[in-house]
Amino acid sequence: MKWTVRKFRQHKGGAPLGLVTAYDYITARFAHRAGVPLILVGDSLATTALGHATTIPATMDAMIHHAEAVRRGAPDAIVVGDMPFLSYPTVPDALRNAGRFLREAGCDAVKLEGGVTKADVIAALVSEGIPVQAHIGLQPQSVKSTGYAVRGRSAEDADALRADLDAVVEAGAFSVVLEGVAPEVADDLTKRAPVPTIGVGAGWHCDAYYLVLADLLGLSDSQPPKFAKAYAHLADDAVAAISSYMAEVADLKYPDAAHSY
Ligand code: KIV
Repeated sequence: MKWTVRKFRQHKGGAPLGLVTAYDYITARFAHRAGVPLILVGDSLATTALGHATTIPATMDAMIHHAEAVRRGAPDAIVVGDMPFLSYPTVPDALRNAGRFLREAGCDAVKLEGGVTKADVIAALVSEGIPVQAHIGLQPQSVKSTGYAVRGRSAEDADALRADLDAVVEAGAFSVVLEGVAPEVADDLTKRAPVPTIGVGAGWHCDAYYLVLADLLGLSDSQPPKFAKAYAHLADDAVAAISSYMAEVADLKYPDAAHSY
C-alpha cells in the first residue's frame, strides 16, 4: 500500500504505527517488505552507519546520498529526510536544503529539530509545499549545549514542551517527534496534538514510534539506548557467518564444485 503524508496525518488516533530509520538500499528493502509506512533517513546516519560519536558531523551531501538509496529501496513508504546540523539556521538555508531532499533524493517530507524557535522555518517550508515533521523534546543536534537529559520532568519543562508542540502544530507540521520525553507528558502532548506524535524514548502513549533499524535488528555491537528493543541479533549471526566462511576457506571446503563455473 502506497503511503502519503496526507494519509499519515489522517491516521491520528488510529492503531499505533511502528516506524524505522534506514540509511541504505538493503535495509530500506527490509522495511519495504515489512510494509513500514514511513522511513526516516535520520541524521543518526552519522552515529549508526558512519561511526561518529554524535549526529553533528552529518552533512547535507551525505544525507542526500543515503536518502536517494532509501527512496530506491522503499517505493511505497513515506521517506522523510532529516535536516542535519546547521542546514536550517535561516529560512533561505532551510528552503534550499529541504528542497534538495525533495528534488534530488525524492523524499516526501523533511524533519527538523526545534519547537518555538523553529516555527518560522517550519511555516516557510510548509507554505512552499514541503511537508515538515517537527522534532521536540530531547534534540541531539543541541547535545553540546543541553546534553541528553530526558525532558518534561518538571512542571516548567512540561509547559515548555506544550509551547513547543503548539508552535510547530500552528506552523503546519504534519507530525511531531517526541524524543526523550517523560511518558505522562508524552501522553498529554499526544492528546493535545491534532497531528500524529511519534515517540522515541517517550513511553507508550504516542500515535507512532521510531526505532533505529540497527537497534531493532541487533546490528550494532555498541550499547543501545534503554528504550530501544532488539527484535533480532543479526550482528551475532553476521559474525558467525563470516567466521564460518573463513574457516571453510582455510579447510579447503569453499569454494567447491557447487559454487564454481
Ligand atoms: O536521526 C534519528 O534517528 C532521529 C530519531 C528521532 C529517530 O532523529
